[in-house]
Formats: sequence, structure tokens, C-alpha cells
Amino acid sequence: MRRKLVVGNWKMHGSRPANAELLAALIAGRPYAADVAVCVPNVFLSETAATLAGSELRWGAQDVSEHEQGAYTGEVSAAMLAECGCRYAIVGHSERRAYHAESDAVVARKAQAALARGVTPIVCVGETLEQRDAGETEAVVKRQLSAVIHQLAHCASEIVVAYEPVWAIGTGRTATPEQAQAVHAVLRAQLHAATGRGHTMRILYGGSVKADNAATLFAQPDIDGGLIGGASLKAADFIAICRAAA
Ligand code: G3P
Repeated sequence: MRRKLVVGNWKMHGSRPANAELLAALIAGRPYAADVAVCVPNVFLSETAATLAGSELRWGAQDVSEHEQGAYTGEVSAAMLAECGCRYAIVGHSERRAYHAESDAVVARKAQAALARGVTPIVCVGETLEQRDAGETEAVVKRQLSAVIHQLAHCASEIVVAYEPVWAIGTGRTATPEQAQAVHAVLRAQLHAATGRGHTMRILYGGSVKADNAATLFAQPDIDGGLIGGASLKAADFIAICRAAA
């Protein structure tokens, strides 16, 4: 039985007062039946860690450098994230693939860098609308996941996977539970074939998850929780989504 996981991806949102209010509400909303985490802008990691320390809530980053250390201006290493107590680092989000030209190979190296420092990568995969319409969904997500599995070889079972169809992100257009489940089943079979532990690994759905559609998505057999964007910025909505993950 996999415990559900709900992760808020704040993206480039937040401010000290807004974060304090949101985190206080999340703490007050405990207990949750699911694991709950927030992935915040790096500049807020230390404060988030201080606020959430001692609660069972977890925190993480939205990206990580593939490099260990060195002259990489603007980059943040997995060791630094670990020092801030990060449990998770999102890697391969479609916004980074699209706006920062991250390839499957870069995403795989980032996942490896995170794992090497004990930070669990949340590996995002997902097809564009054009790819879906062309019937390429399965091939695209399998290719994206395969790059990571190939790179990680023996420790691939330590990752979390997030299926985020690009056409559902921030659009208000959610994949139907059936559409999402179909892709999750493909991903789980792929994970299982590669690691022998696919049944233990968590696969999250992301893309316009809201308080009113979370429960039906999370009820699907291969959907183990969600990666939540916009709705994770509103305490009441995010708490409702966390509660929908029982
Ligand atoms: O990583 C979460 C994400 O991309 C989904 O965003 O705003 O559609 O929930 P949103």
C-alpha cells in the first residue's frame, strides 16, 4: 500500500508575509493522512525549514544543479539543498524543459545529483497537446522516464515520478481521471520492469488539480497523489487537496 503524497509547487510566487501565513495555515490544518510537502523558491528555503521543522510537513526545491559545485553562477547544488533540509527537488518540470532548454539527459543528471545527496527527485514527465493529438503520449513519457532510469541504474527506485501533461498545466483543463490513470499505469509498468519495485513507487499527477477534482483523480489505482501549482498557493484549497488524499 503506497502512502499518498501531495506536493505544492509554488513556482515563482510568494513573499515572506504570504509564506508565513500559508505555512501557518498548513501547520494548523494537520494532521493529514497523506505526506505533504511544499517546493518553494530557493531564497525562502531556510525560512521554510525553520517554520516547518518539528512538524511532519516536508519541503523541497523546484530544481537542482547537475553539478556538484564550482563556477556555475546562479546554480544551487544538491548539497546546499540537503543542508537546508530539503526532502525533495523537482527535476524536469515542463517549464524548465521549455524555458531553459533542459534535455532528458540534463534532467537525468539532475536526478542523479539530488539522489547522491539524499534528496529525492520528483521527476516530471508529460506530453504537449500536439504530441497527445499525434498519439505520441506514451512514447514521449516513456522516453523521458527512460533517460532517468537509465542514468540511475540501481537506485532508480528511490525517485518520485510526476505525470504532468503540459496542456493541463495552469490551463484549468485537467486530464480526466481515466486519461491520467492510463498514463500512470504505463509509467508504473515501466518503473517495475526497470527496478522490480514499481508497485512501491509513487507516481503523482499534476496539471490543474483543484479542491473539487482531487478526490476523483487520487482515487485512481495508480495515482499516488498530486503535484499542485496554482491551488497550492491558497491555504484552503491546498488543505482541501491534501485531505482528498487519504
Ligand atoms: O508542478 C505543478 C504544475 O505544473 C501544475 O500547475 O497550476 O496547473 O496546478 P497547476
